[in-house]
Amino acid sequence: MTDPERLRRRALDALTTARARTALLTSCVDDAELTAQHSPLMSPLVWDLAHISNQEEQWLWRAVAGREALRPEIDSIYDAFEHPRAARPALPLLAPAETRAYASDVRGRVLDVLERTPLEGGPALVDAAFAFGMVAQHEQQHDETMLITHQLRRGPAALDAPAPPPGPGTAGLPAEVLVPGGPFTMGTSAEPWALDNERPAHTRVVPAFFIDTVPVTNGAYMAFIADGGYGDERWWAPEGWAQIRAHGIGAPLFWRREGGQWLRRRFGVVEPVPEDEPVLHVSWYEADAYARWAGRRLPTEEEWEKAARHDPVSGRSLRHPWGDDDPTPEHANLGQRHLRPAPTGSYPAGRSPLGVRQLIGDVWEWTSSDFLPYPGFVAFPYREYSEVFFGPGHKVLRGGSFAVDPVACRGTFRNWDLPVRRQIFSGFRTARDAGAA
Ligand SMILES: [Fe+2]
Repeated sequence: MTDPERLRRRALDALTTARARTALLTSCVDDAELTAQHSPLMSPLVWDLAHISNQEEQWLWRAVAGREALRPEIDSIYDAFEHPRAARPALPLLAPAETRAYASDVRGRVLDVLERTPLEGGPALVDAAFAFGMVAQHEQQHDETMLITHQLRRGPAALDAPAPPPGPGTAGLPAEVLVPGGPFTMGTSAEPWALDNERPAHTRVVPAFFIDTVPVTNGAYMAFIADGGYGDERWWAPEGWAQIRAHGIGAPLFWRREGGQWLRRRFGVVEPVPEDEPVLHVSWYEADAYARWAGRRLPTEEEWEKAARHDPVSGRSLRHPWGDDDPTPEHANLGQRHLRPAPTGSYPAGRSPLGVRQLIGDVWEWTSSDFLPYPGFVAFPYREYSEVFFGPGHKVLRGGSFAVDPVACRGTFRNWDLPVRRQIFSGFRTARDAGAA
């Protein structure tokens, strides 16, 4: 295949994979559940579905193909910046059947555009099929958002998936890995579908540090709770302490204590909390407090990326911890194949050159860093993608969760959220300075 054919196939695959996932997440509940708001933190699922298609129409039908708006009157309803999530149920939303018809009309036109558009050279929006990759990533990000809505939804289970394959566990693994000090390349200028906030590649000098080999487990987190971690102000940032006091928080979201045992609700099923899985549904404040209690700290974003991408032999930064190849099911728990994190120690084929495990997939990992632009950042293709979120209010999460598709996950990918958020698929690992020795 020539490069343009390969690009066209890659874009088609990414769009098709995303749509199959969207269809599953929006067809497993009835119309009443599609239009209901399951949490004020989330949109009705039917809003996500129309918003996905409205963005697809705006970028691929209008911006790339230069065509007229199909439904100009609905643009403002599905503009994420105009209406906060809590206000969306009150909007004159398209009904489910009309939404599906709109989505399929847009997709049909877009596949035609993909067929006719030259994908090499030309404007930056279409070079290397960027806009198609951006739209597929956007849809997959909403598929993760919709999975969060499913987790918040009450009632019997609507989704099911097999458990991750049993892994080798952590026996024999060191608790932490030393990442040597020195320069490494952070971010990317070469990855064709990387988003503006991942660019450009630049050198960072990072002092030596130790980082946990695997994410913090439920079992380890239970020890923090049992030791009175939620009742001891010493471990908490002041805003975090205020939040847990105000809301009576004493465990990760969806956990409850019953008969001397921790249970969790996971997609409509109540089950014992498995001690060997990475902890999930904790806020940045909870992660930060745990780390302080453990005599450690959260890694910075640059430490996380160095642990994930730095190859000490070649001195190069890899696309992924395991190398430059796209993820396969042997590398990482991605793509909603399993609706839970895998036990720690799983996916040995996905380890980084230094031996750090499960950096990609399983749980998003909170870092200590604020979401800020890299030196030389240029907003593309619009300010609202990243630039308006830069600042101290948002903390960076890295690595992707079990709910993230490979197309929206790589060693350079940056996610961000408010430090109070815990409905997201968030966990963490800890780090410490290596000191002068
Ligand atoms: Fe969006």
